[in-house]
Amino acid sequence: MREFSLEEIDSVLDLASSLEPFARGKKSQMLEGKILALLFFEPSTRTRMSFETAMKRLGGSTINLGSAEASSVAKGESLADTVRVIGGYADAIVIRHPKEGSARLASEFSPVPILNAGDGAGHHPTQTLLDLYTIKKESSLDDLNIALVGDLKYGRTVHSLAYALSLYGADINLVSPPTLRMPEAIKADLSSKGTKICETADLNEVIKTVDVLYMTRIQRERFPDPLEYQKVAKSYRLTPEFLAEAKEHLIIMHPLPRVDEIIPAVDSTSHARYFQQSFYGVPIRMALLKLLIGDEDD
Ligand code: NCD
Repeated sequence: MREFSLEEIDSVLDLASSLEPFARGKKSQMLEGKILALLFFEPSTRTRMSFETAMKRLGGSTINLGSAEASSVAKGESLADTVRVIGGYADAIVIRHPKEGSARLASEFSPVPILNAGDGAGHHPTQTLLDLYTIKKESSLDDLNIALVGDLKYGRTVHSLAYALSLYGADINLVSPPTLRMPEAIKADLSSKGTKICETADLNEVIKTVDVLYMTRIQRERFPDPLEYQKVAKSYRLTPEFLAEAKEHLIIMHPLPRVDEIIPAVDSTSHARYFQQSFYGVPIRMALLKLLIGDEDD
């Protein structure tokens, strides 16, 4: 996210808005002849498929590494070599990898642009752009009071989002179990931007005042010890009853997949926006692809 200024983020959001009709099915050949490579070394549904949808709806195509076990990665090929080679086939590469810093490393070797689709417990900037787009469309980025809830230690979506929200001057409530607090380095960064931060483990403390509740999954796969995961697995569970005290215009977001942190009965309340949010991944990724590999005159 640090590569983006506030003005650049706003221009991506505006471009995404103008491309939304194409995400809904309007025909386009804007990226005709372009190829996007998908390199996913970790599970993904929304990120991978929305990149693929964005590319195909704009007339482009995709190539897919598939599972790492079925590629030369299983023979011990380095990430540097893999992206050097695939960069010769495709116009851009989307990469998700379990190691922090992997996308940055890939960008040092790739001849074509790299899009970070999640680097371990590090960052997930394209998710942040679609999160901001959702807030802009469904609530407001002005005078925002938001709660980031759940696994703030290992959750990469909230690491990128917190930084971006600080650019918008949002008040940020960090709600997590004590063992899963937001990393100090990110908090220090927020404070240095003058962001108002409130840290608590208790969702009750913020439910009446926030405009956006951003729920996250406890990241089971990142825990070194399964017993430590069990201790915090059921920390938060949003129900319609709990929301009775919330602001009328509160919206609930979640990058998904959810486990137990939002029960299905919440889906039909006026607050739920997480499925809308996952749809917005398409126009946002269309905007990024157009900026990176689109022809100037389109
Ligand atoms: C998130 C991720 O992969 O970081 N999912 C997504 O991209 N929508 C969140 C998660 O896995 O919990």
